[in-house]
Amino acid sequence: MADGLRIRVFTTPASAARALARAIAKALEANPRSILGLPTGRTPIPLYSELASMYRRGRVDFSRAQTFNLDEFLGIAPRDPRSYRAFMQRHLFDHVNLPARQIHFLNGAARDVAAECARYERAIGRSGGIDLQILGLGTNGHIGFNEPAPALAARTHRTTLSPATRRANAALFGRASAVPREALSMGMATILQARRIVLLATGRSKARCVARMVRGPVTPRLPASFLQLHADVEVWLDRAAAAGVEV
Ligand code: GLP
Repeated sequence: MADGLRIRVFTTPASAARALARAIAKALEANPRSILGLPTGRTPIPLYSELASMYRRGRVDFSRAQTFNLDEFLGIAPRDPRSYRAFMQRHLFDHVNLPARQIHFLNGAARDVAAECARYERAIGRSGGIDLQILGLGTNGHIGFNEPAPALAARTHRTTLSPATRRANAALFGRASAVPREALSMGMATILQARRIVLLATGRSKARCVARMVRGPVTPRLPASFLQLHADVEVWLDRAAAAGVEV
């Protein structure tokens, strides 16, 4: 733990994505019933297309796996093309052999939001817990939709998105002002209970945040810094995202 987070630096975002896809395939080979935690965002798109291509070549099998995604926009139904659920369908689920009943997602359109969050926590618990959680990194240090704040929520919860996060998600909605103001997200304890975590960050825009996450204090002002408290976290970077850390 004293050594801090373990960092791996790859030449390009594509080589990081290829290596992570292989690591996921390996985890599924070792335990076909693996429970995977998955992120959305631009960063994992090359990872998902690599997994789709590995599936076409018979190199990965999702038939007995289960997945839990980190978060979803509040008020957006699963079938809405702007939802994270639809994003995952387009980028991964439509292209691999993961049975629909083994895909778990927060329903952003649930009538009773508190009950929906509790349902999700129970489903994760019943599955036996997340074996491998893949994370992206918001430029403001958020993971899932756990935004910088004076205090963080431990469990799956309803949360308010910062203007920066709404801007970062503008592509899905056409413009930042159309991005929902609230979302549902796994909490920090939910994430930190995963047995193994790999955070993937690529590009120059993440370099400053990566440096603070790796070397800075553990603070709710940078939710990703809480990963320092976990015994099995790896931070996988391309050269640009690693610019602020010495490895
Ligand atoms: C989004 C998601 C996060 C994701 C992050 C980074 O808002 N809720 O789970 O990790 O932003 O996105 P990107 O990979 O596009 O930089």
